[in-house]
Amino acid sequence: MTKRIRKAVFPVAGLGTRFLPATKAQPKEMLPIIDKPLIQFAVEEALAAGITHLILVIGRTKRAIADHFDANPELDLLLRSKGRSDMADYLANIVPKGACTIYLRQAEALGLGHAVACAAPLVDPDEHFAVLLADDLMDGERPILAQMVDSWADNPRSLLAVEEVAADAVSSYGIVDCEAPEPGASLPIRGIVEKPSPEDAPSRLAVVGRYILDGAIMEKLQNTAPGRGGEIQLTDAILQLSHEKQVDAFRFRGRRYDCGSKIGYIEATLDFSVRHPEIGTEARRLIARACKDQ
Ligand code: G1P
Repeated sequence: MTKRIRKAVFPVAGLGTRFLPATKAQPKEMLPIIDKPLIQFAVEEALAAGITHLILVIGRTKRAIADHFDANPELDLLLRSKGRSDMADYLANIVPKGACTIYLRQAEALGLGHAVACAAPLVDPDEHFAVLLADDLMDGERPILAQMVDSWADNPRSLLAVEEVAADAVSSYGIVDCEAPEPGASLPIRGIVEKPSPEDAPSRLAVVGRYILDGAIMEKLQNTAPGRGGEIQLTDAILQLSHEKQVDAFRFRGRRYDCGSKIGYIEATLDFSVRHPEIGTEARRLIARACKDQ
């Protein structure tokens, strides 16, 4: 088992139907929070955790993601000629030296589990790798995936980021059967179920979109039949994995914004705008005014 996690898989092939018409021709992961696309937040979080291989599982209409992380010589020249070298340097280093992007196409949208399994040829069965869902925007003093990697380095095992959700929200998540760990700590799961009804939910601890998984999950995924919603579910393969290897629920310190939903996206936009160095003050004023005018 390697003592580092070098690879992260970003399943970005989903259709984003909750954000139509905005996502008809552009990937939902390119929706910006002020000026930075969701996928870039996730990639930065991975880089901050020491990831060097960024594996993006894309689908049709997702070309903008590859373009975003690619060089753009015309734009670079233009910015430099206008005295904006800072921005040109920033753009040139979104994927810093020493890290690389790898793109895979998921031809059919057969589910999250299927998307992760597309990366099977790139992951060794005896290495752990990360999975990040860009819809879940994570915010913590220490980036969330880095918190998980810290915990993993002390004791290499699979880790699922969890947070407590309201009873009526359990049917939107993978829910673990586990006592609630303290913030910053983890506990082994006894089971996990995808989107249970509130009556059937084993807890209110929901898996959010950050995982560290044993490479053995790939073989489980290849043998996982379609589950909830007729899709190949990552949750079902994690359950299988947990029968053989330790899988822990990790209670991260920080906050998660569900940017796959309109209200979560607005929440993130508001929070990030009021602390944005360039527009924060004005944003506060405008938000107060908008509330007053209603
Ligand atoms: C997926 C997973 C689910 C997890 C959720 C986190 O669901 O299937 O287990 O709790 O991400 O955001 P989705 O949101 O794609 O329906």
